[in-house]
Amino acid sequence: MTTVARPVLVVANWKMHTTPLEASDLAVAIAAATSDDAIGRVICPPFVALAAVAAAVAGTGVEVGAQNVHDRPFGAHTGEISAPMLRGLASWCIVGHSERRRDQAETDDVIGRKLERCLESGLRPILCVGERLAEREAGLAEVTVRDQLKGASSALTGKGELGQAGLVVAYEPVWAIGTGRTARGVDAAVMAEAIRDALDALGWPDAAAIPVLYGGSVTSSTMAEFIAEPSIDGALVGGASLKVDEMAGIVARAALTARARVAQDPVG
Ligand code: PGA
Repeated sequence: MTTVARPVLVVANWKMHTTPLEASDLAVAIAAATSDDAIGRVICPPFVALAAVAAAVAGTGVEVGAQNVHDRPFGAHTGEISAPMLRGLASWCIVGHSERRRDQAETDDVIGRKLERCLESGLRPILCVGERLAEREAGLAEVTVRDQLKGASSALTGKGELGQAGLVVAYEPVWAIGTGRTARGVDAAVMAEAIRDALDALGWPDAAAIPVLYGGSVTSSTMAEFIAEPSIDGALVGGASLKVDEMAGIVARAALTARARVAQDPVG
């Protein structure tokens, strides 16, 4: 794999927070407070607020993502949302978040089919992977993440589609999500490299160009430690993304690094 400049991204995952009205107001405030074209900014509100947020951020450069999608394109699945339904509402989609692996028992197979659905509908997937604390303590962090990537890639392997997926991976150690405890930047950087190596070995073309974000208790004060690592391309932010000041700080820090990276490697 050769080294290439990758885009820097900050993705807000609002989880099960905000009504459509609240989401609209928050999105307007965040878009205004983070106005910077050096990085990509994505807001993932609850499904019911997608339309309100899409309207609120129109023309600001902020993009909209869903937090989940069903693994089938249509069918008798009461209460579910399919990828074709998201057309026009979202351009990104979080897939395989650890809270869904935990609460909805999502397997790597299901997650792989969700990647496939995203690809078919032109949604850019943000695939979440990460180990539990016991796995890290047993020295199994890399193996766990490799297995998750392998399982999720299987739906696309052999179909010549891997390269078109526009994949972004979020490395989110489960023990760091919503706990206030972050990974160390150096450890997250090792995992980001391992993720690209694994994707390369799985046949993803141009794996060196796939952005890897860090997620897990990122705040405006911890962002610097992660984005300082050349292998980390931004953050997937949960709790702090509901606060305008926090988002302003996180985006400003990421934009600083994005500019420095472009200055170092202007041709990309
Ligand atoms: P957190 O969540 O920032 O609240 O830890 C991150 C995530 O779940 O994506």
